[in-house]
Amino acid sequence: MDRLIIKGEADLRGSISIKGSKNSALPIMVSALLSFNTLRLKNLPKLDDINNMSKLLRSYGAIIKSRKDSLEINCEKIINKEAYYDIVRKMRASILILGPLLARFGEAKISLPGGCAIGTRPIDIHLEGLKKLGANFVVENGYVIGQVRESLVGNQITLPFPSVGATENIMMAATIAKGKTIIENAAMEPEISDLASCLNKMGARIKIEKNGIIKIIGVTKLTKANHKIMSDRIVAGTYVIAAVMLNKKFEVKEIESTHLKALTSSLKQMGANLKIRKNSIQILKSTNLNGIKIQTAPYPGFPTDLQAQIMALMSLAKGNSQIKENIFENRFMHVPELNRLGAKIKVKKDIAYIYGNRKLKGAQVMASDLRASVSLVLAALSAEGESVINRVYHLDRGYEKIENTLGKLGPSIKREKY
Ligand code: UD1
Repeated sequence: MDRLIIKGEADLRGSISIKGSKNSALPIMVSALLSFNTLRLKNLPKLDDINNMSKLLRSYGAIIKSRKDSLEINCEKIINKEAYYDIVRKMRASILILGPLLARFGEAKISLPGGCAIGTRPIDIHLEGLKKLGANFVVENGYVIGQVRESLVGNQITLPFPSVGATENIMMAATIAKGKTIIENAAMEPEISDLASCLNKMGARIKIEKNGIIKIIGVTKLTKANHKIMSDRIVAGTYVIAAVMLNKKFEVKEIESTHLKALTSSLKQMGANLKIRKNSIQILKSTNLNGIKIQTAPYPGFPTDLQAQIMALMSLAKGNSQIKENIFENRFMHVPELNRLGAKIKVKKDIAYIYGNRKLKGAQVMASDLRASVSLVLAALSAEGESVINRVYHLDRGYEKIENTLGKLGPSIKREKY
């Protein structure tokens, strides 16, 4: 396994350009399964999750070619309709193949998914939605087996919670189902719009309305298409928080700043000095940061994927803060590790109480999930002395080799095997 050795009280200078979004790229790669024709994708991030998704699609018979600045996926010939535990356990997004396979072939078998260890993360909303389109499921020996009698047929589906993955799964399946589907209480995350925009380029007829409603008119066939993956709002937000924590002048570029409104308004409320433009955010030095109360919520609310990072920042602010986690029930695993670095955070049920004004000190810590890992990196960068972060494979799933990307901009981050 790898670990990171990070020198604290780090410098940070210049700017960073943000690459394509992992959470957008994964469902978009899967959408190639819906079509006989080639899907060409640009701006894919270089991440383990993207490689795992390529492996998963190849195991089904997809032909994937890496070009200089793009990836071509062709799913004309599918040889297998079963996803194996070994790939699926590493990546929860594997569940997204269910909808496209059922829509195109009427059958699919997938091992129950893994991914980050944040709560129980069931798939009932995915299955109930696909059932409404005409699929039937049995769960046997850790596998979900789905079948469709003739073909999927459009329907009206109201989600009990705006699950991102379930919205994507149902939207993809409905693209080539017979007739019209309406998804109510759908997730409205920008990644959903990016997927819809790619599918529409492939010939789908999807309309996203503002109030959580997605309307899809099924088509019989999809065509070849090119798509550029939108920039990663979570990676962008992470680096904005890093610059505020280190109190350095820095710029985060090639982003859609409107996607980060919940974060930037929270940071401004804390006293951060930000210059927000359409495609960039400039962070300037601030004199004082105050504690605030926030809660995570589906988009456009505060993203759960930035909760661990802002918690690290809150430890440095003057005054106390609170975070209520409304999306995942077990997403405070970074708290004991942040406390090892000198933070003082207590958790009661779904609320974390963060005591401010802490002076963080380097320590050995353990990464537990993707966003938790990066919050430890941020805390280590601002701490006094050296920190060691173990089990960084979680981090590699969502951040391109951070020792290179951030390492170029001032901080000293070394990777070693142990
Ligand atoms: C996606 C993101 C993840 C982000 C999350 C919430 C990807 C690859 N991952 O995950 O980074 O943290 O959105 O913004 O895009 N739930 C159920 N039943 C279901 C599905 C979900 O109870 O069938 C629950 C989950 O356990 C969780 C909540 O709904 O508590 C939100 O999950 P969901 O929006 O589905 O997240 P993911 O799509 O897994």
